[in-house]
Amino acid sequence: MRNNQQSRNVVLTGFMGSGKSTVGVILAGKLVKEFVDTDTIIEQMYGAIPEIFKSEGEDAFRRYEREVSEQLALKENLVIATGGKLLLDQTNAELLGSSGRIFCLSAPVDQIIERILKDGLSERPLLDSEDFEEQLKEIYYQRAASYASFEQVDTAGRAPSEIASEIRDLLLPENK
Ligand code: S3P
Repeated sequence: MRNNQQSRNVVLTGFMGSGKSTVGVILAGKLVKEFVDTDTIIEQMYGAIPEIFKSEGEDAFRRYEREVSEQLALKENLVIATGGKLLLDQTNAELLGSSGRIFCLSAPVDQIIERILKDGLSERPLLDSEDFEEQLKEIYYQRAASYASFEQVDTAGRAPSEIASEIRDLLLPENK
C-alpha cells in the first residue's frame, strides 16, 4: 500500500506563467520521480504549439491534450506539469486525478504578467494579441473559479525551490 502511494503521480496545474514546469523539475528531483510536461509531449508528437493553433485550430490542440491525459493516467511515478487549461477539462482532471494528487500553483495576475513578459510571448498563442495584458486578464478572471477548485499552492513572491519543498511536505504521509 505504502509503495503504491509513493509511486503515485504528482500533477501540477495553474495559469500560464504560474511556474508549473520550473517547480515541476525541482519537485521531481526532490521526490525522485520523472518529470514530464504535457506541452512538450504534444510538441514532440505534433509540432510547435503556435503552429498547431494556427494550422489545425485550438480544438485539435485540446484533443491532443486529452490523448496525452489518457496516456499519462496509465503511468506512475511522474511529476506532470500540465498546459494551463488541460485540467479545466473535467475528463482530463478525472483521468490524471485518478493517477495522483493535483496541486494548483496560484499567483496574483500582476505577477503572472511579469513572469510571462520575462519568458516571452511567442510560445503562447492565446496571448497573441495587440493588448496582451487585457487579453491575459480576461482569461485569468474567466478561469479563476475553476482553478480555485483544486488544492492551492501560493507562489506569490516565492522561489521555485521553496514552492517545490512545500509540495513535497504536503505529500508526506502525516499531511495527507
Ligand atoms: C494554454 C497554456 C499553455 C499551452 C497552450 C494553451 C492555456 O501552457 O498549453 O498555449 O490555455 O492556458 P502553459 O500553461 O504551460 O503556458
